[in-house]
Amino acid sequence: MQQLFPIEIHSAEAMKDFGSSLAKQLRSGDILALIGDLGAGKTQLTQGIASALGRTDAVTSPTFALVNEYKDCAPELIHFDWYRMERPEELLAIGWEDYLERDAILVIEWPDRFPEMIPAGSHCIHIEHLESGRRLSYAQA
Ligand SMILES: Nc1ncnc2c1ncn2[C@@H]1O[C@H](COP(=O)(O)OP(=O)(O)O)[C@@H](O)[C@H]1O
Ligand SMILES: [Mg+2]
Repeated sequence: MQQLFPIEIHSAEAMKDFGSSLAKQLRSGDILALIGDLGAGKTQLTQGIASALGRTDAVTSPTFALVNEYKDCAPELIHFDWYRMERPEELLAIGWEDYLERDAILVIEWPDRFPEMIPAGSHCIHIEHLESGRRLSYAQA
């Protein structure tokens, strides 16, 4: 996956397309942490991943739900948003430890809320705003 970065992406549509190409590199058990401000394009990228894994419906930020499970994806895609969480105990309360054992791909928006909860080896994508779009870079947790 690392070889796809860094990359500049100049439209929301291209963000989705890039998500679809990322999906081809993801396997069940993989964790993708998407780090970027509000409006960075984290959900757009997730939409592209979900579409490539078979989802036909829209993906929305699970800001209030905290987590959405897309069972129409193969592998199943589990989409978190930690924006509204204040303490790691809240994450444990929704079953984080069990999610880590699931036969699924996990995507997390706002992983920087609790970096200590991201397992070593997870894929981390940093998204920065540019005047003309976004710049995406890769790191491993
Ligand atoms: N690479 C991009 N270039 C331009 N606009 C983008 C890009 N990626 C996303 N957007 C737009 O930015 C807005 C926020 O995207 P969204 O995915 O909801 O952000 P986040 O989930 O990070 O808050 C949307 O209107 C989307 O269409
Ligand atoms: Mg979002």
